[in-house]
Amino acid sequence: MTQSTSNAAAIGAASGASAKRGFWSSRMAFVLAATGSAVGLGNIWKFPYITGENGGGAFVLVYLLCIAVVGIPIMMAEVMIGRRGGRSPINSMRILTERDKLSLRWRWLAGVGVLASFLILSFYSVIGGWAVSYVGTAASGALSGQSAEVIGAIFSGLLGDPGKLLIWHTVFMALTMAVVVRGLRGGLERAVTILMPALFVLLLLLVGYAMTTGYFGQAVSFLFQPDFSKLTTEGVLVALGHAFFTLSLGMGVMMAYGSYLNKNVSIAKTSVLVSVMDTGVALLAGLAIFPIVFANGLEPGAGPGLIFQTLPLAFGQMPLGSLFGTLFFVLLVFAAWTSAISLLEPLVEWLEEQKGMNRLVSTLGAGGLCWLLGIASILSLNEWSGFAPLGMFAAFEGKTVFDLLDYLTANILLPLGGLLVAVFVGWFMARQALENELSLRGPWFTLWYGVLRYVTPVAVAIVFIYNLV
Ligand code: PFF
Repeated sequence: MTQSTSNAAAIGAASGASAKRGFWSSRMAFVLAATGSAVGLGNIWKFPYITGENGGGAFVLVYLLCIAVVGIPIMMAEVMIGRRGGRSPINSMRILTERDKLSLRWRWLAGVGVLASFLILSFYSVIGGWAVSYVGTAASGALSGQSAEVIGAIFSGLLGDPGKLLIWHTVFMALTMAVVVRGLRGGLERAVTILMPALFVLLLLLVGYAMTTGYFGQAVSFLFQPDFSKLTTEGVLVALGHAFFTLSLGMGVMMAYGSYLNKNVSIAKTSVLVSVMDTGVALLAGLAIFPIVFANGLEPGAGPGLIFQTLPLAFGQMPLGSLFGTLFFVLLVFAAWTSAISLLEPLVEWLEEQKGMNRLVSTLGAGGLCWLLGIASILSLNEWSGFAPLGMFAAFEGKTVFDLLDYLTANILLPLGGLLVAVFVGWFMARQALENELSLRGPWFTLWYGVLRYVTPVAVAIVFIYNLV
């Protein structure tokens, strides 16, 4: 298999592998793979806990605004760069800059992405490991009928045990590497087709259960009634950063996927569809979790353990809870897995292209390094929990290695990558090329172009300046 076809297959769902470079078998295949990357721990684990930490409604509103005003326009821009360049992100950027005689330095944009994916995957895999371990916990029936205290203790027991965390982190990383090393062929496409709808249905079921707790109304007000007094400037940055994280933007993943997209597919409609599905999953997760939080007197701002302390309570109380609980964590693992694959793929591709390594060596190298860095995140949950490496700077006070990696990637690198994409496409690419590529008519094009040129960069810059100065 040539490298480009192996990438086509690896990115999932590409058909026509006999051609030099495959294309997605259908628009649906692209939508599923892009959704597979977007929907992950960000939606089910991170969105609820950062919403809880940032006071609810006002934060959710800013997050939705960021998706609409910053996320969707940038997703369109990334997919477009990928489709126009038709290569891996770095090479697509090279082709585009050469064609329009622009500075080759723009390639660094893809470099920011490679660094971000490396850092994200290191801790993403640790959290993915929590999800894997909860498949067993739920299946064993250990959660049945337990109180909030016992369920909390099960979670703290996991976090306090570096050995266990290491095992699950290793399992998760091995699963991810196993797929990337082989290329996905039709496997991912089929898996995503079944698993994504299944996750959706299960989340709906959990929302149904949450409605019976008597606290659904309170959760709805918490999520959708903005109280701006609870919103901080850091909260706005977190909302913006999360819009990038959850849509897998700012690091070239959507460029890579776009490079396999057929010319006759509408980039705008597809990007909107992926973003709506992603946001839908996050909101459903919020609606499932917060009623349980309030019904059990738990703390909405409990932090990264929120879903592992609330959903098991619900599973412990509902009929057939062990079954549903197991199913839920299996689906969560799959959601995390498809996202992790999309994080590892660009790294592997980059090593293959730049360093001339073969796929096995580059997968072992990139995956191995992420795994190694993941150990620092594991230790920061227990042995190093009091260690704040950059604690001398006010902005990083009290932030452990895990907190720092999360902050640096979601709140700095991804928005920076997105900002560069917006400036590159909005200010440096020829307008005519964009019109042809997007085939958006009249006011829709003007709207997208105006937002990408002015609103997106200014919004990202303002939020940056407020937080970094
Ligand atoms: N979007 C994924 C999630 O919400 O879990 C995480 C992610 C995947 C971020 C791929 C960035 C990325 F390139």
